[in-house]
Amino acid sequence: MKIKTLILYLFFISTIACSSSILANDEPVKPIAPVKEINLGQVELGKKLFFDPRLSRSGFISCNSCHNLSMGGTDNLKTSIGHKWQQGPINSPTVLNSSLNIAQFWDGRAADLKEQAGGPIANPGEMASTHTLALDVLQSIPAYVREFKQVFGTTEINIEYVTEAIAEFEKTLVTPNSRFDQWLLGDENAITSTELAGYSLFKNIGCIACHNGESLGGNSFQKMGLVSPYVTTNKAEGLFGVTGKDMDRFKFKVPTLRNIELTYPYFHDGEAATLTEAVSIMGKLQLGQNFTQENNAKIVAFLKTLTGDQPSFIIPLLPASVDKTPKPTPFD
Ligand code: HEC
Ligand code: HEC
Repeated sequence: MKIKTLILYLFFISTIACSSSILANDEPVKPIAPVKEINLGQVELGKKLFFDPRLSRSGFISCNSCHNLSMGGTDNLKTSIGHKWQQGPINSPTVLNSSLNIAQFWDGRAADLKEQAGGPIANPGEMASTHTLALDVLQSIPAYVREFKQVFGTTEINIEYVTEAIAEFEKTLVTPNSRFDQWLLGDENAITSTELAGYSLFKNIGCIACHNGESLGGNSFQKMGLVSPYVTTNKAEGLFGVTGKDMDRFKFKVPTLRNIELTYPYFHDGEAATLTEAVSIMGKLQLGQNFTQENNAKIVAFLKTLTGDQPSFIIPLLPASVDKTPKPTPFD
C-alpha cells in the first residue's frame, strides 16, 4: 500500500515537472543562448577594427560611433551623423544580437554580418573611405600586419579578412541573462506581476505574431502600418527597394525588442522618442488597438525586462600609425 502511494506520488510529481517544462518550451520567446564556437583570434582583431576610426576618411568615425557599445549598440539619434556631419537617411539599428537576424539592414539588403561590414566603410554618407584606402591604412601599420598574419596566415590584408573579423566580433555581442530570460528558464521571481501581465498582453493582443523567437524580432519582414498607414517624411520604402515588388513596399525587418529600453529613439525614421509612444503606435497601426494608459504601461514594463548582460571587455588598444600611414582628411 505504502509503495503504491509512493509510486502514485512519484507519477504525480513527474507529470507536473513534465508539463511545466513543456509549458516553458512552448513560449513563443526563447532565451538568448550565450555565444559558442567562436574564433578568438578573429574576435580580438575584429574588436580593434570595430573601434578603429582610421577605417573612415576623416580618421574620426568608427563603427562604434554609430553603434556605441556603451549605449546599447546604437547612437540614440533619430538618424545617424556621417562624414562631414552629414545627416543620415535612417535610424541606426543596434548591433547587439544582430547575428540572430535573418538578414542585415532595415530592408535586409545584406545577407549576413560579413556582407554588411563592407558597406559603411565605403558609404560616402557614413565613413566615406574606400576599401583600397582603408586597406592601405591597415597594411601600413606593422602591428596590424602581424595580427592579420597570426589570424589569417598571410601578410596581405584584404577586405574579406577585415569584414570576416568584424563579423566574428559582432557574433560575441549577444545579451543573455535578461530578467525575462531568467523567468523563461524557470525563476518565477525574476519578473514582477505587472511585467508578467505586460507579457500576457503582448502575447494575447498579437504583438507576438511579429516579435517572437530569441530576438523578439529580426526573423521576418512585415509591413509598417498594417491596419492603418504610417505617416512619415522619411523616404525609405523597405524591402521594396530590394525586390522592386509592390507588395514589399513599406515592409521592414521587424526590429529586435531585446535591450529596447536602451535603443531609443524608435522606428526606421527614429520618430518615436519613447517606448510609450512606440507601443501606442504599434497597437494602433499594426493591431487596431487603442491601449489604456495602464495597459500601455504594463507592456512597457515587460519590454524593460528584455535588457540583458551588455558586452563587457577591456577597450582595445589600437596600434599606432606610422610615418607612411595615409593621413586622415576630416574636412574633404
Ligand atoms: C555613420 C553611422 C554608421 C557607421 C559609422 C556605421 N554604421 Fe552600421 N548602420 C548605420 C545605419 C544608419 C544602419 C541602418 C542602415 C539601413 O538599414 O539602411 C546601420 C546598419 C548596421 C547593421 C545592421 C543591423 C540590423 O539589424 O540590420 C550592422 C550589423 C552594422 N550597421 C554594423 C556596422 C559596422 C560593423 C560598422 C563599421 C564597419 C558600421 N556599422 C558603421 C549607421 C552606421
Ligand atoms: C505585423 C507585425 C507587427 C506587429 C503585430 C507588431 N509589430 Fe512592432 N514592429 C514591427 C515592424 C515592422 C517594426 C519596424 C517599423 C518601422 O521602423 O518602420 C516594429 C517596431 C517596433 C518597435 C520599435 C523597435 C525599434 O527598435 O525601433 C517596438 C517597440 C515595437 N515594434 C513593439 C511592438 C508592440 C508592443 C506590439 C504590440 C502592441 C507590436 N510591436 C506589434 C512589426 C510588428
